[in-house]
Amino acid sequence: MSSGIDVSVIVPTYNERENVTRLIKFLHEIMVKEKISYEIVVVDDNSPDGTAEAVKSLSHMYNVKLIVRPGKLGLASAVLEGLKVAKGSIIAVMDADLQHPPEALPEMLKKVSSGCDVVIGSRYVKGGSIAEWSLFRRVVSRGADLIAKILLPKTRGIKDTMSGYFVLKREVIDGVSLNPRGFKILLEVITKGRFKKVCEYPIEFRARTWGESKLGVGEVFNYILHVLDLAHEAVRFVIVGTMGTLVNLATLFFLGYLLSLEHWITVLVAFETSTLFNFTLHELWTFKTGFSKGVGNRLAEFHGAVALHFISQVVISNLLFYGYGVERVLSQLSGILVGFSLNYILSKHVVWRRRR
Ligand code: GDD
Ligand code: MN
Repeated sequence: MSSGIDVSVIVPTYNERENVTRLIKFLHEIMVKEKISYEIVVVDDNSPDGTAEAVKSLSHMYNVKLIVRPGKLGLASAVLEGLKVAKGSIIAVMDADLQHPPEALPEMLKKVSSGCDVVIGSRYVKGGSIAEWSLFRRVVSRGADLIAKILLPKTRGIKDTMSGYFVLKREVIDGVSLNPRGFKILLEVITKGRFKKVCEYPIEFRARTWGESKLGVGEVFNYILHVLDLAHEAVRFVIVGTMGTLVNLATLFFLGYLLSLEHWITVLVAFETSTLFNFTLHELWTFKTGFSKGVGNRLAEFHGAVALHFISQVVISNLLFYGYGVERVLSQLSGILVGFSLNYILSKHVVWRRRR
């Protein structure tokens, strides 16, 4: 490989003293041998095991920058923190725990030179493997991959969407705002980055010798929220709508059975409760920010969209059933789908229209 290639290797650490000191030495040897100019950016979250001190003591011998954050703030946000100080025109991201083989890095960098914008260290291409993972961990990983492939079309051609080992040209993410949520920063890169070609390079995902994994059960929930955040607005719209229906039924149940109110009153209150529930979640989650109108207008217009949803649903259902002799359930289902679609279109393009 030609010299002068400027690569920043970002390494997030939490309690990785034994591992990261070895990794730094390995990386240095490899980079010197391959004549690649490098820097290592370690982002530590104030690990109680003294990771930061150990890294610091190496920084006079190796080209290591150390960032210490006040507490454990998560893997993806650590990587983003490292990106802020990284100087390289090529960025590599890898775990500190030696599960990602450092020897693969020169080959991954070569693939960047030969036209790949992103190169993923991949366990699932020919030659790749996992050394030691429980059946549970494999199932979770495959499940997470499946969810990504269903909801995020850009991940579909990629074998190892869950990898935390990758190399990319800086331009891919320059000026792109990446969300620091959770573990899977590669998903952010694939869904938001600007690239033409993603390549995968086979790696062996090795066993951990020191320390332990930081991936807990809470990460599974966090992951699902992360993917939904990256998914199309319509996906969140449907999820909120479904939850809103449950809120509607629960309100009706509560008012009808526990407070014994008149049915028509419970219907109206349940309608308004679920409308406000949906509105709040669409504001905070489905659409989020950048709207062209004030919140009062959005609230009023959303009531209009919901009213239209309701009217069109009733009209279509009756029209199909009485006018065209369509089967009942099918008529009703068609009404629901049309009503829901109208609600979505109005919400997206009128109520929560974005500023230009
Ligand atoms: N700074 C910081 N803050 N670093 C963290 C944090 C954190 O909150 N949580 C984890 N890390 C660091 C670890 O110290 C390690 O270097 C790296 O992030 C990966 O964490 P592990 O706990 O070893 O993750 P894993 O082995 O379960 O998962 C890995 O394998 C996945 C493959 O499915 C990660 O690399 C994933 O990114 C990878 O996708
Ligand atoms: Mn690990």
